[in-house]
Amino acid sequence: MENTFSIATAREHFPALKQDQVFLDNAGGSQVLGSVIDSISQYLSHTNVQLGASYNASRESTSRYAAGCKAAARYVNASDDEVVLGASTTQLFQNLAIALEFNEGGEIILSKMDHETDIDPWLFMAERNKLTVKWWIPEGPNFKLTPETLKPLLSPKTKFVSCTHVSNILGTIHDVKAIADAVHEAGALFCVDGVSFAPHRQVDVKAFGVDFYAFSWYKVYGPHISVLFASASAQKRLKPMGHYFNPSKTLENKIGFAAANYELTQTIPLIVSYLGGDNSGPVFSAITEHEGKLQKVLLDFLNSREDVTVHGETSADPAVRVSTISFTVKGVESKQVVDKAEKISNLGFRWGHFYSKRLCEELLGLDNEGVVRVSMVHYNTEEEIRKLVEVLKKVLP
Ligand SMILES: Cc1ncc(COP(=O)(O)O)c(C=O)c1O
Repeated sequence: MENTFSIATAREHFPALKQDQVFLDNAGGSQVLGSVIDSISQYLSHTNVQLGASYNASRESTSRYAAGCKAAARYVNASDDEVVLGASTTQLFQNLAIALEFNEGGEIILSKMDHETDIDPWLFMAERNKLTVKWWIPEGPNFKLTPETLKPLLSPKTKFVSCTHVSNILGTIHDVKAIADAVHEAGALFCVDGVSFAPHRQVDVKAFGVDFYAFSWYKVYGPHISVLFASASAQKRLKPMGHYFNPSKTLENKIGFAAANYELTQTIPLIVSYLGGDNSGPVFSAITEHEGKLQKVLLDFLNSREDVTVHGETSADPAVRVSTISFTVKGVESKQVVDKAEKISNLGFRWGHFYSKRLCEELLGLDNEGVVRVSMVHYNTEEEIRKLVEVLKKVLP
């Protein structure tokens, strides 16, 4: 769908953007739509009752919760039975890891560049099921995960492969469809952490060809709640974990653990509607184009400096990366860059390993201070990024 993107109109949707703070830590968590904020208050004020009863308020809360679940399923192009909502992607992956069953002696493949959320649960799963773990280690300088680097690790024993769609440090977009094809050829299941991809591009689990996929709405302009997709066929590998007297047909039945927050779930139709271009929100083609301009401003500056290393993809082409950009400066600690910038500006960005500790230490060879990360989304303006460049000019040696 085409629509003309108006940054001013988009910003109007976010009450937090009216304050004197520039938000450049969006990969940590985005700002929340005003419609979502109002709806949570409205839900709690009028319909905060247990679901499933026959009185009016309960009928209303039940239907709002169901609409939230349905909207999440439609949004990722899955059927209603294939999604579950929960407290966080970390929690949902742990739930999945508890329920997945494999025969002893199989192998799983994990990517070294991932956020620990997409590593820890599977290490636990491997220990419990007595599976061998193989590490998928992409090579620099751009650390792209490809089917070519995966294939030598695949074997008839491979049961499960997981990787990130976009690293929360590097911003490079991996071709998950091509990777999914390679994994499926080997007869294994494929899981993708979509947390850093979802704020920037449309999620479509069918087009990606994945078995499992998760992301967090609190980075996609909504509240602190996450969604996990598991295809109907992959669900056959799950041991249902619900109470014995409850149904075990849907993914929610199997690994939901009654954990989806009602007032947050019922906001999802509002987020989906905003991202679909309703009520003057932007569509993803417009978001991609705008974010491409933002990342070009910053990358043009960073790439022009001899003393700056941009980690991962250095191109500003929105076909190959999203607007999460990390760098280090020769001879300057990452913390120092942020501390100095904060003293002279209202720019909010940060330093660290961002829970991708294995990537920062083992692949990028960085110490505890990690990288400086600037993560932009569609409501950031070119003016904000030009201001950031001016501040960095003052802060860097
Ligand atoms: C790539 C990536 N995966 C997973 C997570 C964890 O998500 P959650 O906080 O919903 O568990 C994050 C959070 O920053 C992330 O950036």
